[in-house]
Amino acid sequence: TMNLDKSLETSEDSGLPKLPVPPLQQTLDMYLKCMSHLIPEEQFKKTKPIVEKFGAPGGMGEFLQKKLLERSEHKANWVYDYWLEDMYLSNRLALPVNSSPVMVFPKQNFRSQSDTLRFAAHLISGVLEYKSLIDGRALPVDYARGQLAGTPLCMDQYNKVFTSYRLPGPKIDTLVAQKSTVMPEPEHIIVACKNQFFVLDVVINFRRLNEKDLYTQLERIRKMADIEEERLPPIGLLTSDGRTQWAEARSVLIKDSTNRDSLDMIERCLCLVCLDEPSGTELTDTNRALLMLHGGGTDKNGGNRWYDKPMQFVIGADGCCGVVCEHSPFEGIVLVQCSEYLLRYMRGSPSKLVRAASMSELPAPRRLRWKCSPDIQAFLTASADKLQRLVKNLDMNVNKFTGYGKEFIKKQKMSPDAYIQVALQFTFYRCHGRLVPTYESASVRRFQEGRVDNIRSSTPEALAFVKAMDAEKMELLWTAIKAQTNYTILAITGMAIDNHLLGLREIAKELKLEKPELFSDTTYATSIHFILSTSQVPTTEEMFCCYGPVVPNGYGACYNPQTDHIIFCVSSFRESAETSSDLFVKTLEGCLKEMQDLCIKGNTEAKPTDSTEKMDGNTKVMKNGSKS
Ligand code: COA
Repeated sequence: TMNLDKSLETSEDSGLPKLPVPPLQQTLDMYLKCMSHLIPEEQFKKTKPIVEKFGAPGGMGEFLQKKLLERSEHKANWVYDYWLEDMYLSNRLALPVNSSPVMVFPKQNFRSQSDTLRFAAHLISGVLEYKSLIDGRALPVDYARGQLAGTPLCMDQYNKVFTSYRLPGPKIDTLVAQKSTVMPEPEHIIVACKNQFFVLDVVINFRRLNEKDLYTQLERIRKMADIEEERLPPIGLLTSDGRTQWAEARSVLIKDSTNRDSLDMIERCLCLVCLDEPSGTELTDTNRALLMLHGGGTDKNGGNRWYDKPMQFVIGADGCCGVVCEHSPFEGIVLVQCSEYLLRYMRGSPSKLVRAASMSELPAPRRLRWKCSPDIQAFLTASADKLQRLVKNLDMNVNKFTGYGKEFIKKQKMSPDAYIQVALQFTFYRCHGRLVPTYESASVRRFQEGRVDNIRSSTPEALAFVKAMDAEKMELLWTAIKAQTNYTILAITGMAIDNHLLGLREIAKELKLEKPELFSDTTYATSIHFILSTSQVPTTEEMFCCYGPVVPNGYGACYNPQTDHIIFCVSSFRESAETSSDLFVKTLEGCLKEMQDLCIKGNTEAKPTDSTEKMDGNTKVMKNGSKS
């Protein structure tokens, strides 16, 4: 195994530009602009001089900026390592709900156990097909859509889909990767069934198993899992715990060589296939989302997982299917691409199975063994309790808004994404009477090794709009949409502030300098406490993505805009008295309707004279973020 960022598979020869380091003053101005209306005036009065001091000529900011520029010269992407650590690897929270997004597939109708296994074998065939496209560098390059459409995007994230593993550590995790090769090497998948883990070899004697072989092997696994006397404790539960706790448990686990072997097999697998027991709950969209996010807890399928692995395909006997994804190696967009490929593959290529089970010469799949000391038992009990609490805590609402979709918004000559973001701000304001630091993921895959930066959607213009309740509203909606669209363009061209501030903070740490006051100021802490965490994850197949809130008193809001409807997946925690997903969604429906009425009314009234220069996606943005 090797460290990912040292991988030779960088995109240097992709011809993509490097991520720029934004000008210091631009970032500092933007930071103040983003925060001034979100914090008390008194606090802002303290923060402003701190920021000015940081940015003063000859000051700390200039020095760190120079260091960052130097760093950017010898790295393909100056922020990648910092960002990966900050966003994922140093985060100690449990992966389920807090970090791992899921993809929820359309509900399947399995009439029998063999139906379920047929589906699993078909899906695994698709996975192997997709993996060989990745390994053969045969995936078509993605191109940007929407704003500034048409430029090619960095494809690095795909190489990590079936090769990486997030190893827990006491203070920080490590993202490790297998070297991928074009030659068919021994390869395996881990099948989880009844909280047991089985090794399913998919390449034997340089030959990839066909679907019929896979089916036979899955049936054998199913039979082995059914033998009650051989059942081992649900070790997978440990991976659902906080990262520090799991790291501690793992360090005890690896003292035994049997456990070491089992861990090694899991860490080197392509992916997991989790054959889930029926959940016994009605499979509404919301319930399927919940089951995918945490497995329904210890009495359902909570232990039938291994959260460190990037891809876990869940196939429930009751038809509840989807993917759980460890987020650190790639973004939701890659998850969507892979999932859509699989669904299309399964629809387009008829299952290659004959009915009768074949007597196979293949070696039997192997059950992974665990030696469970009393210490490990204690860790397991603690992990189980933690998961149960998380299950009780998650408040989820998946809602298909059918009032209108992208088409209506485009007819208003507005960016659908910006419009939805303004609607989310409006909703938050209605529910809570204020705006809060908001995160919207913006892809920076236009650049080498690009991941994401943040669009801070709670703009001053959004606040002005949501506060206004008079005739000026339409004008203010326009202004808010423009501000949001401008920020989006800044972000996707590498000129947003979050990655830059992170870079300045981390390079100071790296140089062992005293932490600049800017970063110990409460305003900075507030600015990165994302009460509203949002993301557009569009799909072309019938499925949806969702995830949990990133802070205890916050919301996760994932949306999937379609032509005539928009799917919203809103999550929050029940333990917070401030939040309610149901209320948020209900309010959102009302807000979207009000905005529609406003647009329709606006259309029938005299248009503002400058209406011809409305957003056209090509709007040029000057360095300070205003439109030219
Ligand atoms: N008038 C008419 N149509 C417009 C318009 C306007 N003023 N502005 C945009 N449109 C059109 C676009 O041309 C596009 O058309 P298409 O459907 O034919 O492609 C469509 O509306 C959507 O564009 P828009 O809503 O502006 O958003 P976008 O697709 O550019 O998305 C981001 C914006 C920030 C979401 C996107 O750039 C991004 O970064 N996506 C990745 C997010 C991510 O990583 N998610 C996963 C995180 S795990």
